[in-house]
Amino acid sequence: MSKSFYIETFGCQMNAHDSEKVVGTLESQGYVQTQVEDEAGLILYNTCSIRDKAEQKVFHRLNEYKRLQGEGKKFAVIGCVAQQEGERIFDKAPYVSIVAGSASYRNLPAMLARLERGDSRITGLDDKQTTETFETPFVARTNQHRGYITIIEGCDKFCAYCVVPYTRGNERSRSAASVLEEARRMADAGYTEIQLLGQNVNSYRDPSRQKTFAELLHAVATLPGIRRVRFTTSHPRDFTRDIVDVIDATPSLCDHVHLPVQSGSSDVLRKMDREYTRDWYLERIAWIKSAQRDISITSDIIVGFPGETDADLEQTATLLDEVGYDAIFAFKYSPRPNTPAISMADSLSDEVKSARLKVLLDRQREIQRVNYDRHRDQVMELMIESHNTQRNQVVGRSTQNKTVNFTTSQPILPAIGSYQTVRITQAFPNSLLGEAVL
Ligand code: 5AD
Ligand code: SF4
Repeated sequence: MSKSFYIETFGCQMNAHDSEKVVGTLESQGYVQTQVEDEAGLILYNTCSIRDKAEQKVFHRLNEYKRLQGEGKKFAVIGCVAQQEGERIFDKAPYVSIVAGSASYRNLPAMLARLERGDSRITGLDDKQTTETFETPFVARTNQHRGYITIIEGCDKFCAYCVVPYTRGNERSRSAASVLEEARRMADAGYTEIQLLGQNVNSYRDPSRQKTFAELLHAVATLPGIRRVRFTTSHPRDFTRDIVDVIDATPSLCDHVHLPVQSGSSDVLRKMDREYTRDWYLERIAWIKSAQRDISITSDIIVGFPGETDADLEQTATLLDEVGYDAIFAFKYSPRPNTPAISMADSLSDEVKSARLKVLLDRQREIQRVNYDRHRDQVMELMIESHNTQRNQVVGRSTQNKTVNFTTSQPILPAIGSYQTVRITQAFPNSLLGEAVL
């Protein structure tokens, strides 16, 4: 078998970062990555099952793979669909050799050794209840300036609609010392931005009891060389006031909190098992707004959860107004296997869900128009992400995670990963336009 591999990744940032660790692990075993599927001896799919379209995409791609069969190629399905579907994947696609969920990645070298011996039907599905995390020195990060660090894996919240506790297993945190060591190594390698990751990042509990989540944020953000630290995703239930205090006290912690609310109706929140009410959520928002820093707030929303009424939807719409989010990611409810909500009648048609989604997105667009307009004439620092040579613009990101396109009179464009101060000249609902301040 050729030791070249091709990997494709679906889903969230956790999956994107898992893939960086999987790539690093494969490379440590002598494998070489190729960007060309047809050239690979081993093809891996890191899959997502958060909503049904994500999962359908995988099976669609697996079918396309059929044309590559018989050429000595091996296939691995890893990630959330792998954990969810398990050995059924071998029945649907017999040419797949490895099916592994994220809680088993630390066993990848052993799985690869079995693959090389010619084994088929190799599974890594058995350890959903584990205390171990996937820590590896072999991380093939795709960006040289900003990078992810997983601080907590899995989720214990069991929201009624969510597949994650079943695909990623129970919650387990890495020790603060190990997180800090990885952050220090990244700083030494030239990284200036770190994003701390977890399905439920602020439920972090240092197993060595050295640091709270807020203290860990502070420790990472004050490492020499680190200019920006972000964290995602926060659960309102675990959002404590000291997180706001530490942002206020630590300039390199970014002005952004992603705090998914899911619904503005306390009735729907109860049915979702979110363990908070609208008022309880708004109290956390008030803490964030009382900060001295201008902290941007973003959210995830689900429309069309079983039993959601027009009045419930209106509650979500008024919550959007009240919070004044800078961005929302809104989704139509999708019934997921194994979850409690699968047994609730999913009585709303797709048309109704789409119409409700549109109501919220239209409302949110107006909110963003106003929010983004406030930035006009402001001066802000950006991390440079890319160059848009066609438009003669540079693309950067603000501490609030907003995209800014800007022009510069300098003959040499600022380098990717460097920082540049700009003045904002124009605002749109999703981005800003500016010019470099030299
Ligand atoms: N249907 C629709 N959206 C979902 N999400 C999670 N599970 C579902 C589901 N079954 C959304 C939530 C979560 C985001 C990552 O995906 O809004 O915050
Ligand atoms: Fe998708 Fe959730 Fe798995 Fe991330 S954790 S890949 S969003 S199912």
